[in-house]
Amino acid sequence: MTAHVLHITGARPNFPKAAPVLRALSKRGVPQKLVHTGQHYDERMSEVFFQELGLPRPDINLGVGSGTHGKQTAAIMVGVEELVTESRPAMIVVYGDVNSTVAAALVGSKLRIPLAHVEAGLRSFDMTMPEEVNRIVTDRLSDLLLATSADAIAHLGNEGVAAERIHLVGNPMIDTLLANIKRFDAAKARAEHGIEGRYIVATLHRPGNVDDPADARELVAAMHAVADQAQVVIPLHPRGRAGLAAAGLFTHPSVTVLDPLGYVEFLGLVRGADAVVTDSGGVQEETTILGVPCLTLRPNTERPVTITHGTNRLATRENLPGMVATCLAAGRPETWPVPPLWDGHAGERIADVVVGHLER
Ligand code: UD1
Ligand code: UDP
Repeated sequence: MTAHVLHITGARPNFPKAAPVLRALSKRGVPQKLVHTGQHYDERMSEVFFQELGLPRPDINLGVGSGTHGKQTAAIMVGVEELVTESRPAMIVVYGDVNSTVAAALVGSKLRIPLAHVEAGLRSFDMTMPEEVNRIVTDRLSDLLLATSADAIAHLGNEGVAAERIHLVGNPMIDTLLANIKRFDAAKARAEHGIEGRYIVATLHRPGNVDDPADARELVAAMHAVADQAQVVIPLHPRGRAGLAAAGLFTHPSVTVLDPLGYVEFLGLVRGADAVVTDSGGVQEETTILGVPCLTLRPNTERPVTITHGTNRLATRENLPGMVATCLAAGRPETWPVPPLWDGHAGERIADVVVGHLER
């Protein structure tokens, strides 16, 4: 293989982040290969994004599937190591904070391949989250740290990363959102899911919310109290399905549980919602741009710019029903701030930094 840029993806949130980077590098004539690790594999967690976002087919699918952190990370490392040893890319680009990200970073670093991290520098300062471990390790190993927001730049500076390696490029997930916004049809989503009045969209998958049966029971009680106020539509991630079902989520008449939705259909539903309840990272960012009030069911967020410059607020299981009532009473905001450089051009800025590094 000729010297090329190797992109590592594998989990649902990687795909909307990678799409604009691949597109921008392709416009600059840079040879590229796309790896899918197979961390996510259900049609609705993976294939649908390739169909909807104009992503090229992956050149390689490692097919690692699910497992414990150790098994999954190790399987990705073995697969990426074989590939990189054989093909010697000029650079590896990794995205976000999932196990596929850190596994590829470890391999690339030891094989001395320059590494670029898209979405560098985000910190929740909560080491109970596997993603925080993945972020810190990946950033420590990266040559190019491509940041979505000013707080990330500050964290990296505090950790001693040299300023010339850090670049504020904006948010490629928002490039994908803005490129597709005309396709987000709220009326169609309403019709498809039989939604008549006001409604809330929820996504729930963090281990801290769904893994432990006692947490799941508390979460279900909170969601039922939300459903007493408005219809709740939940495209449910496979991780929490069995536990939340056992805790009685499906029993409230105003709760509609769906399989995960395709990107365009999901954001159509979000666009028309009165509020969103979530523990997703990406959804906090997307609601910020769509101007939909977002209640994040977590004790912290690595994306504080969505609070200071967006529509996001942190919620607990205890105060969630009251916060939903406040959102419903206030209505959707007419104007709201937008984080700097979340403008649809992050992919191009990332491509400029990558090409500049390759030329040097
Ligand atoms: C992963 C990421 C998380 C991210 C989320 C996005 C890590 C450590 N976590 O969490 O940061 O927010 O993806 O969605 O990388 N499963 C399926 N089908 C699939 C994929 C998963 O049924 O296509 C089920 C399996 O039972 C699996 C479980 O979901 O064991 C968890 O999957 P995994 O990829 O390990 O972690 P996520 O919870 O998806
Ligand atoms: N998403 C989707 N369908 C759904 C739920 C989410 O397409 O049913 C999209 C969402 O719009 C965002 C991405 O998946 O682009 C976020 O992924 P997820 O919440 O799984 O991961 P996180 O961002 O928390 O790491």
